[in-house]
Amino acid sequence: RPLDINIELPDEQSAQKLKIGIYFATWWALNVVFNIYNKKVLNAFPYPWLTSTLSLACGSLMMLVSWAIRIADAPKTDLEFWKTLFPVAVAHTIGHVAATVSMSKVAVSFTHIIKSGEPAFSVLVSRFFMGETFPLPVYLSLLPIIGGCALAAITELNFNITGFMGAMISNLAFVFRNIFSKKGMKGKSVSGMNYYACLSMMSLVILTPFAIAVEGPQMWAAGWQNAVSQVGPNFVWWVVAQSVFYHLYNQVSYMSLDQISPLTFSIGNTMKRISVIVASIIIFHTPIQPVNALGAAIAIFGTFLYSQAKQ
Ligand code: 3PG
Repeated sequence: RPLDINIELPDEQSAQKLKIGIYFATWWALNVVFNIYNKKVLNAFPYPWLTSTLSLACGSLMMLVSWAIRIADAPKTDLEFWKTLFPVAVAHTIGHVAATVSMSKVAVSFTHIIKSGEPAFSVLVSRFFMGETFPLPVYLSLLPIIGGCALAAITELNFNITGFMGAMISNLAFVFRNIFSKKGMKGKSVSGMNYYACLSMMSLVILTPFAIAVEGPQMWAAGWQNAVSQVGPNFVWWVVAQSVFYHLYNQVSYMSLDQISPLTFSIGNTMKRISVIVASIIIFHTPIQPVNALGAAIAIFGTFLYSQAKQ
Protein backbone atom coordinates (compact mmCIF):
# COMPACT_ATOMS: atom_id res chain seq x y z
CA ARG A 1 0.00 0.00 0.00
CA PRO A 2 1.60 3.33 -0.93
CA LEU A 3 2.49 5.61 1.96
CA ASP A 4 -0.26 8.15 2.59
CA ILE A 5 2.01 11.18 2.76
CA ASN A 6 1.28 14.34 0.87
CA ILE A 7 4.60 15.88 -0.12
CA GLU A 8 4.25 19.17 -1.97
CA LEU A 9 7.00 19.88 -4.48
CA PRO A 10 8.52 23.41 -4.38
CA ASP A 11 6.75 24.23 -7.68
CA GLU A 12 3.38 23.15 -6.28
CA GLN A 13 4.01 25.17 -3.13
CA SER A 14 4.74 28.36 -5.03
CA ALA A 15 1.76 27.77 -7.33
CA GLN A 16 -0.47 27.38 -4.25
CA LYS A 17 1.01 30.54 -2.67
CA LEU A 18 0.42 32.45 -5.90
CA LYS A 19 -3.15 31.20 -6.07
CA ILE A 20 -3.89 32.29 -2.50
CA GLY A 21 -2.15 35.63 -3.14
CA ILE A 22 -4.44 36.20 -6.15
CA TYR A 23 -7.51 35.26 -4.09
CA PHE A 24 -6.52 37.66 -1.32
CA ALA A 25 -5.77 40.59 -3.66
CA THR A 26 -9.08 40.06 -5.51
CA TRP A 27 -11.01 39.73 -2.25
CA TRP A 28 -9.59 42.99 -0.84
CA ALA A 29 -10.08 44.94 -4.10
CA LEU A 30 -13.70 43.78 -4.46
CA ASN A 31 -14.32 44.59 -0.80
CA VAL A 32 -12.99 48.15 -1.15
CA VAL A 33 -15.31 48.77 -4.12
CA PHE A 34 -18.26 47.26 -2.22
CA ASN A 35 -17.62 49.48 0.81
CA ILE A 36 -17.42 52.65 -1.28
CA TYR A 37 -20.66 52.00 -3.19
CA ASN A 38 -22.44 50.71 -0.10
CA LYS A 39 -21.68 53.95 1.76
CA LYS A 40 -22.58 56.12 -1.25
CA VAL A 41 -25.93 54.32 -1.40
CA LEU A 42 -26.52 54.58 2.38
CA ASN A 43 -25.70 58.31 2.39
CA ALA A 44 -28.47 58.95 -0.14
CA PHE A 45 -30.81 56.15 0.92
CA PRO A 46 -30.47 55.30 4.63
CA TYR A 47 -32.33 51.99 4.57
CA PRO A 48 -29.72 49.37 5.50
CA TRP A 49 -32.24 46.53 5.89
CA LEU A 50 -33.27 46.89 2.24
CA THR A 51 -29.73 47.32 0.89
CA SER A 52 -28.63 44.21 2.84
CA THR A 53 -31.54 42.26 1.37
CA LEU A 54 -30.76 43.46 -2.16
CA SER A 55 -27.12 42.35 -1.83
CA LEU A 56 -28.27 38.83 -0.95
CA ALA A 57 -30.96 38.82 -3.64
CA CYS A 58 -28.49 39.92 -6.30
CA GLY A 59 -25.98 37.23 -5.31
CA SER A 60 -28.68 34.55 -5.26
CA LEU A 61 -29.89 35.58 -8.70
CA MET A 62 -26.35 35.66 -10.13
CA MET A 63 -25.73 32.13 -8.90
CA LEU A 64 -29.10 30.75 -10.09
CA VAL A 65 -28.37 32.14 -13.56
CA SER A 66 -24.80 30.74 -13.47
CA TRP A 67 -26.17 27.29 -12.63
CA ALA A 68 -28.94 27.52 -15.24
CA ILE A 69 -26.59 28.48 -18.08
CA ARG A 70 -23.93 26.12 -16.70
CA ILE A 71 -21.15 28.64 -16.10
CA ALA A 72 -20.97 26.90 -12.74
CA ASP A 73 -22.12 23.41 -11.79
CA ALA A 74 -25.08 23.38 -9.41
CA PRO A 75 -24.23 21.65 -6.12
CA LYS A 76 -25.81 18.35 -5.15
CA THR A 77 -27.39 19.01 -1.78
CA ASP A 78 -29.67 17.10 0.57
CA LEU A 79 -31.90 18.06 3.49
CA GLU A 80 -29.04 17.42 5.91
CA PHE A 81 -26.91 20.03 4.06
CA TRP A 82 -29.61 22.72 4.38
CA LYS A 83 -30.16 21.85 8.04
CA THR A 84 -26.45 22.32 8.84
CA LEU A 85 -26.46 25.51 6.78
CA PHE A 86 -29.28 27.04 8.81
CA PRO A 87 -27.23 28.25 11.84
CA VAL A 88 -24.55 29.57 9.44
CA ALA A 89 -27.23 31.50 7.55
CA VAL A 90 -28.74 32.94 10.74
CA ALA A 91 -25.27 34.15 11.83
CA HIS A 92 -24.50 35.49 8.32
CA THR A 93 -27.80 37.38 8.19
CA ILE A 94 -27.31 38.97 11.62
CA GLY A 95 -23.66 39.85 10.91
CA HIS A 96 -24.47 41.32 7.51
CA VAL A 97 -27.44 43.45 8.53
CA ALA A 98 -25.68 44.63 11.72
CA ALA A 99 -22.60 45.77 9.75
CA THR A 100 -24.79 47.57 7.21
CA VAL A 101 -26.83 49.29 9.94
CA SER A 102 -23.50 50.32 11.51
CA MET A 103 -22.24 51.79 8.23
CA SER A 104 -25.48 53.71 7.77
CA LYS A 105 -24.78 55.51 11.09
CA VAL A 106 -21.00 56.02 11.21
CA ALA A 107 -18.00 56.40 8.88
CA VAL A 108 -16.97 53.23 7.00
CA SER A 109 -13.53 53.51 8.60
CA PHE A 110 -15.03 53.47 12.12
CA THR A 111 -17.11 50.34 11.42
CA HIS A 112 -14.00 48.58 10.11
CA ILE A 113 -11.81 49.69 13.02
CA ILE A 114 -14.31 48.08 15.41
CA LYS A 115 -14.54 45.08 13.11
CA SER A 116 -10.77 44.66 13.30
CA GLY A 117 -11.48 43.49 16.87
CA GLU A 118 -12.99 40.26 15.47
CA PRO A 119 -10.07 38.05 16.66
CA ALA A 120 -10.86 39.05 20.25
CA PHE A 121 -14.43 37.82 19.77
CA SER A 122 -13.11 34.66 18.17
CA VAL A 123 -10.94 33.84 21.22
CA LEU A 124 -13.72 34.68 23.70
CA VAL A 125 -16.32 32.61 21.83
CA SER A 126 -13.93 29.65 21.49
CA ARG A 127 -13.06 29.93 25.19
CA PHE A 128 -16.53 30.32 26.66
CA PHE A 129 -18.76 28.50 24.14
CA MET A 130 -16.43 25.80 22.80
CA GLY A 131 -14.33 25.29 25.95
CA GLU A 132 -11.09 25.81 23.98
CA THR A 133 -8.11 27.17 25.90
CA PHE A 134 -5.21 29.15 24.47
CA PRO A 135 -1.63 29.85 25.57
CA LEU A 136 -1.12 33.04 27.60
CA PRO A 137 0.40 35.09 24.70
CA VAL A 138 -2.89 34.69 22.78
CA TYR A 139 -4.86 36.24 25.66
CA LEU A 140 -2.23 38.97 26.06
CA SER A 141 -2.50 39.87 22.35
CA LEU A 142 -6.17 40.69 22.97
CA LEU A 143 -5.16 43.62 25.18
CA PRO A 144 -3.90 45.84 22.32
CA ILE A 145 -6.83 44.71 20.13
CA ILE A 146 -9.44 45.63 22.74
CA GLY A 147 -7.51 48.69 24.00
CA GLY A 148 -6.89 50.00 20.45
CA CYS A 149 -10.56 49.59 19.46
CA ALA A 150 -11.65 51.28 22.70
CA LEU A 151 -9.27 54.21 22.12
CA ALA A 152 -10.50 54.59 18.54
CA ALA A 153 -14.12 54.47 19.71
CA ILE A 154 -13.85 57.07 22.47
CA THR A 155 -11.94 59.49 20.24
CA GLU A 156 -14.20 59.00 17.20
CA LEU A 157 -15.53 62.41 16.14
CA ASN A 158 -18.85 61.06 14.87
CA PHE A 159 -19.47 58.40 17.47
CA ASN A 160 -22.93 56.86 17.38
CA ILE A 161 -24.05 54.08 19.68
CA THR A 162 -26.08 52.21 17.03
CA GLY A 163 -23.09 52.36 14.68
CA PHE A 164 -20.81 51.02 17.40
CA MET A 165 -23.16 48.27 18.56
CA GLY A 166 -23.87 47.21 14.96
CA ALA A 167 -20.16 46.59 14.37
CA MET A 168 -19.83 44.72 17.69
CA ILE A 169 -22.86 42.49 16.95
CA SER A 170 -21.50 41.85 13.48
CA ASN A 171 -18.18 40.72 15.02
CA LEU A 172 -19.91 38.28 17.31
CA ALA A 173 -22.21 36.90 14.61
CA PHE A 174 -19.39 36.46 12.08
CA VAL A 175 -17.25 34.52 14.56
CA PHE A 176 -20.09 31.99 14.87
CA ARG A 177 -20.60 32.05 11.10
CA ASN A 178 -16.93 31.28 10.45
CA ILE A 179 -16.79 28.46 13.01
CA PHE A 180 -19.98 26.83 11.67
CA SER A 181 -19.00 27.35 8.00
CA LYS A 182 -15.61 25.74 8.32
CA LYS A 183 -17.28 22.78 10.09
CA GLY A 184 -20.05 22.65 7.47
CA MET A 185 -17.62 22.77 4.55
CA LYS A 186 -15.28 20.11 5.97
CA GLY A 187 -15.45 16.84 4.04
CA LYS A 188 -18.35 18.10 1.89
CA SER A 189 -18.38 17.96 -1.88
CA VAL A 190 -19.89 21.47 -2.15
CA SER A 191 -17.23 23.98 -3.26
CA GLY A 192 -16.60 27.28 -1.44
CA MET A 193 -18.33 29.17 -4.25
CA ASN A 194 -21.49 27.05 -4.15
CA TYR A 195 -21.49 26.95 -0.37
CA TYR A 196 -21.61 30.75 -0.31
CA ALA A 197 -24.34 30.74 -3.01
CA CYS A 198 -26.56 28.49 -0.86
CA LEU A 199 -25.75 30.63 2.17
CA SER A 200 -26.91 33.78 0.32
CA MET A 201 -30.16 32.12 -0.69
CA MET A 202 -30.99 30.92 2.79
CA SER A 203 -30.03 34.29 4.33
CA LEU A 204 -32.23 36.06 1.80
CA VAL A 205 -35.22 33.97 2.90
CA ILE A 206 -34.46 34.70 6.57
CA LEU A 207 -33.84 38.44 6.12
CA THR A 208 -36.71 39.44 3.78
CA PRO A 209 -39.60 39.32 6.33
CA PHE A 210 -37.52 41.21 8.91
CA ALA A 211 -36.56 43.90 6.37
CA ILE A 212 -40.23 44.37 5.48
CA ALA A 213 -41.18 44.55 9.18
CA VAL A 214 -38.40 46.99 10.18
CA GLU A 215 -38.47 49.33 7.15
CA GLY A 216 -41.12 48.28 4.64
CA PRO A 217 -42.18 49.24 1.11
CA GLN A 218 -43.67 52.63 2.02
CA MET A 219 -40.43 53.95 3.52
CA TRP A 220 -38.45 52.46 0.64
CA ALA A 221 -40.61 54.09 -2.05
CA ALA A 222 -40.34 57.56 -0.47
CA GLY A 223 -36.61 57.12 0.23
CA TRP A 224 -35.93 55.91 -3.31
CA GLN A 225 -37.60 58.95 -4.87
CA ASN A 226 -35.61 61.21 -2.62
CA ALA A 227 -32.34 59.43 -3.49
CA VAL A 228 -33.01 59.60 -7.24
CA SER A 229 -33.81 63.31 -6.99
CA GLN A 230 -30.51 63.91 -5.10
CA VAL A 231 -28.21 61.64 -7.10
CA GLY A 232 -29.99 61.34 -10.45
CA PRO A 233 -30.91 58.24 -12.45
CA ASN A 234 -27.43 56.78 -11.85
CA PHE A 235 -28.49 55.94 -8.31
CA VAL A 236 -29.83 52.59 -9.45
CA TRP A 237 -26.34 51.67 -10.74
CA TRP A 238 -24.83 52.44 -7.35
CA VAL A 239 -27.29 49.98 -5.81
CA VAL A 240 -26.44 47.39 -8.48
CA ALA A 241 -22.71 47.94 -7.89
CA GLN A 242 -22.93 47.55 -4.10
CA SER A 243 -25.00 44.38 -4.52
CA VAL A 244 -22.84 42.75 -7.19
CA PHE A 245 -19.57 43.59 -5.40
CA TYR A 246 -20.99 42.34 -2.09
CA HIS A 247 -21.62 38.95 -3.63
CA LEU A 248 -18.30 38.80 -5.50
CA TYR A 249 -16.09 39.67 -2.52
CA ASN A 250 -17.86 37.15 -0.29
CA GLN A 251 -17.71 34.50 -2.99
CA VAL A 252 -13.95 34.97 -3.39
CA SER A 253 -13.48 34.97 0.39
CA TYR A 254 -15.32 31.63 0.64
CA MET A 255 -13.24 30.28 -2.24
CA SER A 256 -10.14 31.13 -0.22
CA LEU A 257 -11.60 29.75 3.03
CA ASP A 258 -11.80 26.47 1.12
CA GLN A 259 -8.01 26.52 0.70
CA ILE A 260 -6.68 27.99 3.94
CA SER A 261 -7.00 27.67 7.70
CA PRO A 262 -9.45 29.88 9.64
CA LEU A 263 -6.41 31.59 11.18
CA THR A 264 -4.90 32.60 7.83
CA PHE A 265 -8.39 33.67 6.80
CA SER A 266 -8.80 35.98 9.79
CA ILE A 267 -5.36 37.53 9.20
CA GLY A 268 -6.31 38.13 5.56
CA ASN A 269 -9.55 39.68 6.72
CA THR A 270 -7.77 42.14 9.02
CA MET A 271 -5.34 43.14 6.26
CA LYS A 272 -8.40 43.71 4.09
CA ARG A 273 -9.73 46.17 6.68
CA ILE A 274 -6.55 48.25 6.43
CA SER A 275 -7.19 48.78 2.70
CA VAL A 276 -10.85 49.63 3.35
CA ILE A 277 -10.03 52.06 6.19
CA VAL A 278 -7.39 53.89 4.15
CA ALA A 279 -9.44 53.96 0.91
CA SER A 280 -12.63 55.16 2.61
CA ILE A 281 -10.84 57.92 4.59
CA ILE A 282 -9.38 59.24 1.31
CA ILE A 283 -12.58 58.93 -0.75
CA PHE A 284 -15.05 60.26 1.84
CA HIS A 285 -12.60 62.83 3.36
CA THR A 286 -13.35 61.33 6.79
CA PRO A 287 -12.03 63.64 9.53
CA ILE A 288 -9.75 61.72 11.92
CA GLN A 289 -7.66 62.85 14.85
CA PRO A 290 -4.12 61.48 15.37
CA VAL A 291 -5.17 59.74 18.60
CA ASN A 292 -8.03 58.08 16.74
CA ALA A 293 -5.65 56.77 14.07
CA LEU A 294 -3.32 55.62 16.85
CA GLY A 295 -6.16 53.53 18.35
CA ALA A 296 -6.79 51.89 14.97
CA ALA A 297 -3.08 51.20 14.48
CA ILE A 298 -2.76 49.62 17.95
CA ALA A 299 -5.80 47.39 17.29
CA ILE A 300 -4.41 46.24 13.95
CA PHE A 301 -0.96 45.67 15.44
CA GLY A 302 -2.69 43.61 18.16
CA THR A 303 -4.20 41.42 15.44
CA PHE A 304 -0.72 40.86 14.05
CA LEU A 305 0.52 39.85 17.53
CA TYR A 306 -2.53 37.58 17.89
CA SER A 307 -1.71 35.78 14.64
CA GLN A 308 1.91 35.29 15.78
CA ALA A 309 0.79 34.04 19.20
CA LYS A 310 -1.71 31.61 17.67
CA GLN A 311 0.86 30.19 15.29
C1 3PG B 1 -21.57 43.14 5.45
O1 3PG B 1 -22.35 43.92 5.00
O2 3PG B 1 -21.78 41.92 5.54
C2 3PG B 1 -20.29 43.69 5.99
O3 3PG B 1 -19.88 44.81 5.32
C3 3PG B 1 -19.32 42.61 6.04
O4 3PG B 1 -18.16 42.99 6.55
P1 3PG B 1 -16.92 42.02 6.44
O5 3PG B 1 -17.19 41.00 5.37
O6 3PG B 1 -15.83 42.95 6.06
O7 3PG B 1 -16.74 41.43 7.80
